[in-house]
Amino acid sequence: MEAIGPRSHATVLKVTEPEPPRPLSDVGAKKATSSVIDVRSSLSLSPASCSNDNSSHGGGGSATPATTDTSATFGSRLLTPKQDVFEYNAWDHVDPGSDHERYAEEMIRQQREFPAPAEEKDAYNARPNEFWDQFYQSNQNKFFKDRKWLKLEFPELFNWTSSPRFSSASRVRVMELGCGAGNIVFPLLQEMPDRRLMVHACDFSKTAVEVVKGTREKLQPEDQARCDAFIWDISSDRLPEGVAEGSVDFIVMVFVFSALHPSQWRQTIDNLYKASLLKPGGMVFFRDYGRYDLAQVRFKKHRLLEDNLYARGDGTRVYFFTSEQIHAFFGERFVVEQNAVDRRLIVNRKRKVKMYRVWLQGKFRKPDWLDP
Ligand SMILES: C[S@@+](CC[C@H](N)C(=O)[O-])C[C@H]1O[C@@H](n2cnc3c(N)ncnc32)[C@H](O)[C@@H]1O
Repeated sequence: MEAIGPRSHATVLKVTEPEPPRPLSDVGAKKATSSVIDVRSSLSLSPASCSNDNSSHGGGGSATPATTDTSATFGSRLLTPKQDVFEYNAWDHVDPGSDHERYAEEMIRQQREFPAPAEEKDAYNARPNEFWDQFYQSNQNKFFKDRKWLKLEFPELFNWTSSPRFSSASRVRVMELGCGAGNIVFPLLQEMPDRRLMVHACDFSKTAVEVVKGTREKLQPEDQARCDAFIWDISSDRLPEGVAEGSVDFIVMVFVFSALHPSQWRQTIDNLYKASLLKPGGMVFFRDYGRYDLAQVRFKKHRLLEDNLYARGDGTRVYFFTSEQIHAFFGERFVVEQNAVDRRLIVNRKRKVKMYRVWLQGKFRKPDWLDP
């Protein structure tokens, strides 16, 4: 048996890009003009690219309340019974309905019949960083788009400058976990000229960190001094060197929790909280994949590692959460200020195809009244 390891990007796309499935029925829109949806080739998602879909934030705000949702500001293009679903390319806050749920469950049942072979599973789980290294060797910083929606969804990262809490702070630290190529780090630095801002960018992929360091070198010296990048596995039982315990004001986790194995979730949350990167009162900003997202439903044979956990074609892992899970993980320790489901219906107007995207978004605050 050929050893499983990171492969070239070309091979990855050729061999494993999962073909989108054919849904069972047309669902979700009140005024459908087609009774069959075929999502085949209508959304060119390459591995990990679901997290690259900035269109989910194109419009502004409305989210489906989940366990706790106080201030969702997602897209605002709403589909009413009077509208033709194929009038626009995308709609926010569309409930896919029970037909879609049944369809998704059927797809997942089929995936379970053909899980990834045991020896492949071991390789994906044993050396996950190497698959990401390979991903960044192929893509450098050209894959993910800058997260321009950050300011809309997480304004707290930007408006702290006028908050009394920070009026006497000499440093305000933002730490991004799983920073990838820096698509959050650099827009944040650019948008925030405040000299007190310090951005710590970490990733367990050494190639990703090299990419970030390379971009950092091109910044003005004063901006270089406002960020650093280093290798750290967020599920490790050691905290990173160079970031003092209890020193971080904001943690950003965007499409990184889903890359972990379930056995790593608890240690990772401990790292944010108990071992305490965060200051009391510090916030975690979270965004990740939701259950029955198109990217989950379209996985084909031999990609399923465990329930709701998959290996993409390039060997990187991805898990699809429910908002209840997220609430259980974070709610145990944090004050849940937001835990929302962001749904979007993507439409291929020409082919009369509908596809449902599901993301989760949360804001979790470490209580002020506890010691770090
Ligand atoms: C989908 S990318 C998201 C990158 C970035 N957050 C963004 O939104 O552009 C996931 C990133 O998480 C990193 N990652 C996965 N598991 C990790 C771990 N255990 N520790 C640190 N980084 C990890 C990967 O290397 C990859 O760069």
